[in-house]
Amino acid sequence: MDAGPLNVDALRRDFPILHQTVDNRPLVYLDNAASSQKPRQVIDAITRYYLHDHANVHRGVHELARRATEAYEGSRERIARWINAPDAREVVWTRGTSEALNLVAHSIGQARVESGDEIVISEMEHHSNLVPWQLLAARTGARLRYLRLTDDGRLDLDALAGLLGSRTRVVSLPHVSNALGTVNPVREIGALVREESDAVFVVDGAQGAPHLRVDVQSLGCDFYAFSGHKMCGPTGMGALWGRRALFDEMPPWQGGGEMIERVTPQRSSWAEVPHKFEAGTPNVAGAVGMGAAADYLDAVGFEALHRHEQALTRTAIEGLSAISGIRILGPTDPRDRAGVVPFVVRRTDAQDLATMLDAQGIAVRAGHHCAQLVVDRYGVSATVRASFYLYNTNEEVRRLVDGVRRAVRILR
Ligand code: ALA
Repeated sequence: MDAGPLNVDALRRDFPILHQTVDNRPLVYLDNAASSQKPRQVIDAITRYYLHDHANVHRGVHELARRATEAYEGSRERIARWINAPDAREVVWTRGTSEALNLVAHSIGQARVESGDEIVISEMEHHSNLVPWQLLAARTGARLRYLRLTDDGRLDLDALAGLLGSRTRVVSLPHVSNALGTVNPVREIGALVREESDAVFVVDGAQGAPHLRVDVQSLGCDFYAFSGHKMCGPTGMGALWGRRALFDEMPPWQGGGEMIERVTPQRSSWAEVPHKFEAGTPNVAGAVGMGAAADYLDAVGFEALHRHEQALTRTAIEGLSAISGIRILGPTDPRDRAGVVPFVVRRTDAQDLATMLDAQGIAVRAGHHCAQLVVDRYGVSATVRASFYLYNTNEEVRRLVDGVRRAVRILR
């Protein structure tokens, strides 16, 4: 159930890190697309685990091993419910979205992709959903085909059907763009992919899962990858959801303990999914933290969170638009974006601008945001990016706008 607006003052009390000054100014943290901050509830869950329950998982018969295994597998079940996965065995733990996407590219590549096959991605990709496919293409002789971007920062979906055909093995696209903020119509894209091809449809959910309620069954994708650290959870932890039948078909991509069924001198056989893809001692505390982050976000409520981010985005776009020489990238209607506002200012270097904002206590990111093709498409070398989350306030957005105005005056 979704209540009214977010009680941001109360939520902020959950985030100890926000209550500090930078150069004698209260910190304004607007770099959430890079990494979000962690509430006490997540920090406490991880601490509790290390203080009371830690051991290796699946290996011991003793009490702590049992507790650690329960915590690890319990979090997997929690995350499966959180994304409405039909089966917790369809959730593979990874180090993050990048590793999840590398896993799919490597293993589905080995199972299904040959010379002359095609992989469809877009100009909107973060490098994590681009370079693994380039590596696969180089290894197999497959061809990468690109869905282009429109002038207002959307995927050119009119061109999608023309890219799909009998050689298309994989379509991999972002749920939400980290560099533009665009929310892509994943469900419609998935329907088109199924209609026009037999391709596997992969979704890079790094910027989706932290901000939008994800239901993998209704999205109609085959894989969904996301990270803990952008959704109030720990770094070095992420998950890959995938359809069981596909995981069964895919070979493992890393060998080691835990991923085998039986080992003989010349060959081995594999454990069932998800363990087939989880070689070595896993990040148990990371899994615990990720489960706690899912609980936290559910308590906040995704509808209220989304409305809050849209309100902040609207305030930012209205305020920044009044600054002379500014150009805001991405969809013009805030309803079509998540809380990400990238911009450039004429005759002003993006790094310099971000540095001047830092001097006012305002944390943003400047650069190509690991999405080189996006900045190239819009003819800029870098943007300044403000990105919002549940604990940001209108007042902070106003400080951003004032800060940019002041920095631009000085830099010019
Ligand atoms: N993917 C992260 C970002 O967009 C690091 O900043």
